[in-house]
Amino acid sequence: MKIVAIANQKGGVGKTTTAVNLGAALAEFGHRILIIDLDPQANATSSFGLQAVEQTSLYEPLLGDAIITERIFPTEREALFIVPADLDLAGAEVEIARMPNHLTRLAETLKPLHVDETFDFVFIDCPPSLGILMSNALAAADELLTPIQCEYFALEGLVKIVRLIEQVHDSGANKRLELGGIVMTMFDGRTNLSEQVVAEVRQHFGERVYQTVIPRSVRLSEAPSFGKSILEYAPTGAAAQAYRALAREFIERHASPATPPALSQTPASENLET
Ligand SMILES: Nc1ncnc2c1ncn2[C@@H]1O[C@H](COP(=O)(O)OP(=O)(O)OP(=O)(O)O)[C@@H](O)[C@H]1O
Ligand SMILES: [Mg+2]
Repeated sequence: MKIVAIANQKGGVGKTTTAVNLGAALAEFGHRILIIDLDPQANATSSFGLQAVEQTSLYEPLLGDAIITERIFPTEREALFIVPADLDLAGAEVEIARMPNHLTRLAETLKPLHVDETFDFVFIDCPPSLGILMSNALAAADELLTPIQCEYFALEGLVKIVRLIEQVHDSGANKRLELGGIVMTMFDGRTNLSEQVVAEVRQHFGERVYQTVIPRSVRLSEAPSFGKSILEYAPTGAAAQAYRALAREFIERHASPATPPALSQTPASENLET
């Protein structure tokens, strides 16, 4: 089981859209996916046609008053499950801050999921603000998947995220966190700007950037209001094809680690023997 935080402190870049539709595409390919809605806005929750109802979210589990397995709900798609969000989650920011180990509350909460390995991937749909909830997601995740909108300042946003990962490493909260991938979203083929931004981000971040680029699509913005992923709402359109292609790439990356272990990670004893 891999825990992937879908995160970018910038709002409206496609985090929730990517969590829902990449999750749906991976489930369509037979992978078992859990989406955790960690945003009190509850956009991922309503994207599945679910209401943000009290005592369904991760709020109580985060405070140690319930276990996560009681909060996992099926979606209409087989193999795709969700832990919904509700407004209580907004209050969790304050209450968690008062707790001991306040940065590792989510990591603790997710532990029961490791016991039976029910899921292949857990996606955490993060809120945009850099608060306690997002910090908890960074401390709990194996990797970040960062959607970036194809617009000016994309690189500046990414630089901030790289710094954030360094801070998480330095603080000791989570040494294994890495930038697993960057997804360029809302690509508009009619403008040169989109092309330029993608080229620039690729130049700096190389293979971390997914080859698949998500096009700007009205269908993608309509689908949530019908409680459907793009795979149900417009299954043959460009946006659905793009999320399927992203899912294939995601699986390829996770089947064979692209980067060999760095030299510094070689056990000291191996170095001695040579
Ligand atoms: N590729 C796309 N084409 C067109 N509209 C899109 C696309 N991706 C996302 N949107 C729309 O843009 C808006 C923001 O997307 P989304 O909610 O996924 O971003 P977010 O990063 O999760 O936002 P927040 O930071 O508020 O959580 C939504 O209305 C969504 O439907
Ligand atoms: Mg969102």
